[in-house]
Amino acid sequence: MDATASTPARPPSSEPPRHSAVRSLLRLWPFVRPVRARLFTAAAVAVIASCISLVIPLVLKWIVDGPVAAGAPGGVWLGGGFLLFLGVAEAGLFGLRRWLVARPLAGVEAALRERLYARLQRLPVSFHDRWASGQLLSRATTDLQLLRMFLAFPLTFLLVNGATILVGCAILLTQRFSLGLMLLAPVVPLMILCSVFEAKYALAARRALDQVGDLTTVIEESVLGIRIVKGFGRHRSQARMFRRLTHELRTTELRKARLLAVIWGFITLLPELAIGAALVLGTVQVADGALSAGTLVAFLSTALALRWPVDSIGFLLAMSNEAAMATDRYFEVLDAPLAEASDPSPGPRATADDTDGSGPCSGSGDSGGLVFSGVEFRYPDAPGDAPPTLCGVDLRIASGETMALVGATGSGKTTLTALVPRLYDPTGGRITLDGRDLTALSRDEVRGLVSVAFEEPTLFSATVAENVLMGGADLQEADLRRALAVAQADGFVSALPQGPHTQVGEQGMSLSGGQRQRLALARAVAGRPRFLILDDPLSALDVHTEALVEAALRQVLATTTALIVAHRPSTVLLADRVALLSGGRIAAVGTHHQLLRDNAEYAGLMSGTDPVTAGSVPRPRGTSGGTR
Ligand SMILES: Nc1ncnc2c1ncn2[C@@H]1O[C@H](COP(=O)(O)OP(=O)(O)OP(=O)(O)O)[C@@H](O)[C@H]1O
Ligand SMILES: [Mg+2]
Repeated sequence: MDATASTPARPPSSEPPRHSAVRSLLRLWPFVRPVRARLFTAAAVAVIASCISLVIPLVLKWIVDGPVAAGAPGGVWLGGGFLLFLGVAEAGLFGLRRWLVARPLAGVEAALRERLYARLQRLPVSFHDRWASGQLLSRATTDLQLLRMFLAFPLTFLLVNGATILVGCAILLTQRFSLGLMLLAPVVPLMILCSVFEAKYALAARRALDQVGDLTTVIEESVLGIRIVKGFGRHRSQARMFRRLTHELRTTELRKARLLAVIWGFITLLPELAIGAALVLGTVQVADGALSAGTLVAFLSTALALRWPVDSIGFLLAMSNEAAMATDRYFEVLDAPLAEASDPSPGPRATADDTDGSGPCSGSGDSGGLVFSGVEFRYPDAPGDAPPTLCGVDLRIASGETMALVGATGSGKTTLTALVPRLYDPTGGRITLDGRDLTALSRDEVRGLVSVAFEEPTLFSATVAENVLMGGADLQEADLRRALAVAQADGFVSALPQGPHTQVGEQGMSLSGGQRQRLALARAVAGRPRFLILDDPLSALDVHTEALVEAALRQVLATTTALIVAHRPSTVLLADRVALLSGGRIAAVGTHHQLLRDNAEYAGLMSGTDPVTAGSVPRPRGTSGGTR
C-alpha cells in the first residue's frame, strides 16, 4: 500500500572495499598541505603544553623531598609560584593552538566542499540518475563537518597524547623502573582491544553516515514533493517511512555508543587497576625506606597526569574512524568517473572534413546542420536484456531547417534530444554539428552552439533576468528583452513586483506552469544559438498564447537549425519537416501533410485515435529527467 514508502536508492558503491582508516585519511593530505605549517606548529605547541603538565609532578617531588622535608616555607612558596606559572603557561599554549588551527581548517573545509561541488557539476547526468540526492547532500554537509572536526581535534590530539604518553612513560620508568613496568602492563591487551574495536566501529560509523544520507533524501523529497504528499494524503505513510529510517539510524547510533562504552570502560579500568597496584607496591617500598616519599608522589601524579591522554584515546580513535568513513564517502563522489563522455579526443574518424553524413537517410553530401547517423543509445542503468532506447537513428536536419520530432510517449524523444547537448553520449553511431563530430567538440564549444529547453522547466532561486540570461555567455539587457518577447513572457514579467528583477524559483515568487515554460523558452533562445533543441516547449500554454509564441518563435527558427519535440499539430506546423520516432528509429520523415496522408501511426498520434500507439507503455510525466 505504501507506494512511496520504500527506502531511497543508495548509490551502487555504498559498500566499498574496506581498507585501513589511515589510508583513507591520508587522501586528505592534498587539502591539508597548504596549511601544514600552521597545523604542525599547532601540534608542536600542544605537545609542549601537554608535556608541561608532566613537569608539574617533578616540581611536586622537589617540594616534598626539599622544602617540605626541611620545613622551609619560603621554598614551598617558591615551588607553589612555579606550579602556578606552569599551569598558566599550559592553558595559554592550548589557547594558542586553538587560535592557530581555527582559520586554516575552515579554509580546508571550504576547499573540500568546493571541490565536491565542482565535481558534482561535472559528473554526467547518468551519475545523478543513479545517486539519491540526499546521499550527495549529506556528503557535502555532515561528512565534511566530521572531516573538519577530525582535523581540528583527533588528528592533533592523537599525536599530542601519543607523545605525552611516551614522555610520561619515560619519566615513570626513570623514576622507578619496577613501578613503571607495572603501570605499562595493560598496554598490550589495550592495543589488541583497540584494533578489534576499530574494525567494528568503522562499520557502524559507515552505516550511520549512509543512513543519514537516506534520511536526507526522504526529507528533501517530502519537502520538494509536499504538494503530492498533501494532495494524496500521504503524510502518514511518509511519516512512517521517516520513523523507520530514524529508528534504524538510532539503532546504529546506539551500537556505536555501546562499542564506545565498552572500549572506554576497558581503557579507563585497566590503567586504573595498574595505578592501584603501583600505589600499594610503592607505599610498601616507601615504608621499607627503599623509595623517597617525594618520588612516590611524583610517580603517582605523573601516572594521574597521563590519565586524560590515555582515556581520550578511545573516543579519539572513534572520531578518527568516523572521519575515515566520511573520507571514503567523500572520495566515492570525487572518484566517480567523469563519464564515457570525457574530453574531446579528435580521433581519426572525427576530423572536420569527415563530411559524408553517412547515414542511410542522408541524401546529399552537404555536411551542414545536425546529423544523426546510426545513433544507438541504451541507458546505463537499463536492465541488460531490454532493447536499447534508440537503435539506429538516422536523421539529417539541414542547416537552418526546423525539424519536428513526433512519437508516442516513451518512444525516446527526450532521450534523443538529450544526446545533442551531450547530457548523455550515444552508445553507438555518431552525431555531427555542421560536419563536426560531437565528441570532437569540447563541452564549452557544444554549450556555445546548442541551446535547450527541457520538458520540465527548471527555474533557479534567482531573478527572472538571471534565469533567462543563463542561456548564454555575456548576454545583455537587450538579449533579455528580445528573449522575453519571443517567449511572450514580457507581459507577465513586467507585471511582477520588481519586473525582471523579481526573485523566482524555489525561494522566490511562484510562477504558473505556463509562465515557467515561457521563461525556459526565453532562456533557450536568449543566446541566439546555432542549434536549438526544444522538448515540447509549448505544452502548458493556452491556445491563444501558444499562437502568439509560435508567431514570435518563427522568426528565431528562421535563423537556427532546430529540433522540436511536438505533440500537437499546432507545434508541428512550426517545422519545415517532421520526423516520426518509432521503435527506437526514425520511421518516417516528411512534411506534416505528407505524413498525415501516408503514415497511419503519425495520423493516429496527431488525431489521438490510432491503435498503433496503444502498444507503447505510457509513462508518468516527469520521471525521466531528474529536473524539477
Ligand atoms: N534516466 C533514465 N534511465 C533509464 N531509462 C530511462 C531514463 N529516462 C527515460 N528512460 C526510459 O527511456 C524510454 C524513453 O523515454 P523518453 O523520456 O525519451 O520518452 P519520450 O519520448 O520523451 O516520452 P514523452 O513523450 O512522454 O516525453 C522510456 O521507456 C523511459 O522509461
Ligand atoms: Mg519526453
